[in-house]
Amino acid sequence: MSNERFNALKGVQDIFPPDIYIWQKIESVAREVFYLYGYQEIRPPIIEYTDLFARSIGETTDIVEKEMYTFSDKGGRSITLRPEGTASVVRAYIEHHLYNLPSPQKFFYSGPMFRYERPQKGRFRQFYQIGVEAFGVAGPEMDAEVISMLCLLLDRIGLKGLNFEINSLGCDRCRPPYRKALIDFFRDRINNFCPDCNRRFHVNPLRLLDCKVERCVEMRKDSPEITAYLCDDCRSHLEGLISLLEVMQIPYKINPEMVRGLDYYTRTTFEVTSEGLGSQKAVAAGGRYDRLVEQFGGPQVPGIGFAVGMERIVLLLKDMGGITHPVPAIFIATLGREAIKEGLLLGERLRKRGLWVEVNLEASSLKSQLRRADRLSSRFVLIIGEEELLSGKVKWKDMRSGDQGEVAIKDVDNFPAQCPANK
Ligand code: HAM
Repeated sequence: MSNERFNALKGVQDIFPPDIYIWQKIESVAREVFYLYGYQEIRPPIIEYTDLFARSIGETTDIVEKEMYTFSDKGGRSITLRPEGTASVVRAYIEHHLYNLPSPQKFFYSGPMFRYERPQKGRFRQFYQIGVEAFGVAGPEMDAEVISMLCLLLDRIGLKGLNFEINSLGCDRCRPPYRKALIDFFRDRINNFCPDCNRRFHVNPLRLLDCKVERCVEMRKDSPEITAYLCDDCRSHLEGLISLLEVMQIPYKINPEMVRGLDYYTRTTFEVTSEGLGSQKAVAAGGRYDRLVEQFGGPQVPGIGFAVGMERIVLLLKDMGGITHPVPAIFIATLGREAIKEGLLLGERLRKRGLWVEVNLEASSLKSQLRRADRLSSRFVLIIGEEELLSGKVKWKDMRSGDQGEVAIKDVDNFPAQCPANK
């Protein structure tokens, strides 16, 4: 056997302390906020049939064309590691007939997503999203509530200075005239665009607006905007949302160029960005998908949702600093075999009270044990040596105030309640 060392794949990362505490904090805040709005957790699988993503996200999107982790399983089926969560939740909603339950049905999920993108700051090949999907309400009131929930979530997480952008991508009625306007605009200049744009021009011209190639971004600057082509219903939906956002005092900007990288959207789309992130600045994004349930063989049920990108939020929080992490309440320093045994027993007794207790389990000097307690930022240290075993009392030290004292081993269950610092 060789001693070969392995590294993690490019674009994925291990998440461990202290960063993991930021992750846990975000996850717990998200649960609290979703609870306030009646969203319940759903855990779809990480693998699905490839077609589910191809048909919902869209065959001509970057995600489906270039970024999916797709493989054949042993039975020859084409399987894909989920690049996003909406398609799976919609599939589950239909598969389990959740539309028969009282409307609206509201779900949240969290977990890893996979996209074969070029890794860079804030962009990974395995990244984590926390997302929500709400089914059954067609009016802009639902959009307003979902957006408001996202604002509360980001606020409670502690993010500041975010930009909120909204747009409408219209519906089946307003898309054809818009599509025609795009074709008219691009027709004479398409040869100057990248090969992807040329290919997509014939099948899905809207996707040209999503191309990231600099030359294409520059050349499409004056292309027609969807907002000018919205049908009456889509326009009034957008106006309804805007007036609700005003009443709810949610700051927003309309960005008619925001097309999103997924084909399933109808009407409202939104994105939250932060300048602190560099080029990958979207912290969260979402929108309405009123046709998707029907398109997958379900009833005519509208849907809306969003997903936040965990890594990007973590980056922003780390930049802000001031993140606290849990520390042991008590470090039990032990000197000698018998003391270690007593320490083990004391540790178990204290943990029953819900305290994080670290017990020194190996022979080492008091000095090095105190150094370890300090490095762990343990609040209290209990010291057990031969003398303490004989007297039945252990020494304690408050590492913050420097106070010291003794406590009888039989009374340790009440420790540190009897310390001056805790009175
Ligand atoms: P998305 O815009 O593709 O939307 O992704 C949502 C968020 O996931 C992005 O704003 C970003 O924060 C994060 N994200 C995306 N790709 C990466 C990556 N490669 N590395 C790190 N973070 C990334 C969706 O996925 C939709 N399913 C959202 C949705 C839910 N729409 C309706 N419901």
